[in-house]
Amino acid sequence: MSKKRVAVIFGGKSSEHEVSRVSASYVISMIPRDRYEVVTIGITKEGKWLLYSGDTAAIADGSWEQDPHNVLAFIAPAPSVSGMAVVRPEGTELVKLDILFPVLHGKNGEDGTIQGLFEMSGIPYVGCGVLASAACMDKAVTNILLDSFGIEQANYVWLYTHDYRKDPKKAVEQIEAVLPSYPVFVKPANAGSSVGISKAHNRDELMQAIETAAKEDSKIVVEENIVGDEVECAVLGNEEPFASVPGQIKPAAEFYDYDAKYNNAASELYIPAHISDELKEKVRQIAVRAYRAIGCSGLSRVDFFVTKDGRVLLNEINTLPGFTSISMYPKLMAASGIEGETLIEKLLQYAVERKEKDV
Ligand SMILES: Nc1ncnc2c1ncn2[C@@H]1O[C@H](COP(=O)(O)OP(=O)(O)O)[C@@H](O)[C@H]1O
Ligand SMILES: [Mg+2]
Repeated sequence: MSKKRVAVIFGGKSSEHEVSRVSASYVISMIPRDRYEVVTIGITKEGKWLLYSGDTAAIADGSWEQDPHNVLAFIAPAPSVSGMAVVRPEGTELVKLDILFPVLHGKNGEDGTIQGLFEMSGIPYVGCGVLASAACMDKAVTNILLDSFGIEQANYVWLYTHDYRKDPKKAVEQIEAVLPSYPVFVKPANAGSSVGISKAHNRDELMQAIETAAKEDSKIVVEENIVGDEVECAVLGNEEPFASVPGQIKPAAEFYDYDAKYNNAASELYIPAHISDELKEKVRQIAVRAYRAIGCSGLSRVDFFVTKDGRVLLNEINTLPGFTSISMYPKLMAASGIEGETLIEKLLQYAVERKEKDV
């Protein structure tokens, strides 16, 4: 059997560009080479698409961008090509691709935009489709959908920064009417890696926090502060998804901000989570229910708060979770018996299955 050609797409015009590069080098190292041929396409922060054929090591540190052999390359939106157009000085070459593996986090990669291009291309791709990706990227939309499915979460309000600026006092009063006690969490609706998120302890801080979040997005979500354990569940599959053993993060900071996520070694992971077996089961069930309700496919990491009195509140669904060697998603799958290469191959197979069955 001939090898399937997989294109791993990394980087991206996103605040999570750097994390994506580290995730990509892990994913690339786990693709079984006896069955798959790998090509790598990097997207620079400025949005340039380059076919990169050098060492994987240079992807993680960013030096891949300087490789003199890089050439412009694009996934063709035409299913007649079913691959990429590589723009070489001597002419454009069309290269067939069998599976696309976006290892992109945040805007332009995890939000349904690139998934739209993939749909157009007709090539199977790893992960969620357009709608689920877009719905999970927007925290206001996720909250609204989860509410309608009866999935418990923190009380929230969402607003446009435009309306806030028109009448800040009125906007704040509306927020306080729904969320009467501080602290509250203020988040840009579309962001990730905790960028633009703050915890506000009073009205002044709330207004500052809205300004901070407004730098990232025109839509803002304010949530009640949940005191509880942060528990995460990795989900894999299409119509009958598998939920991993839940894990737990113990942020070193007051909350799991960007620094605590990527720079602070004192943040700890517990696998399995330090919660009762009954609660672990509840987490897994809600994770699968939310995954199916939103229409996820391939993979997602579903994040929760579990309170002392046994409430399980869904926080967010990450459709392309961190995939570095120390990331929760691959660790949770490994703890559930699905290790590195097996996991990556399953993701590739689910991509093909989804396309074949049109699920
Ligand atoms: N409602 C909340 N109550 C308590 N802590 C929260 C709440 N929302 C967010 N946090 C804290 O902020 C972190 C980042 O928020 P999250 O919604 O997960 O955004 P991101 O998409 O950036 O990961 C969470 O991991 C958690 O530590
Ligand atoms: Mg999060």
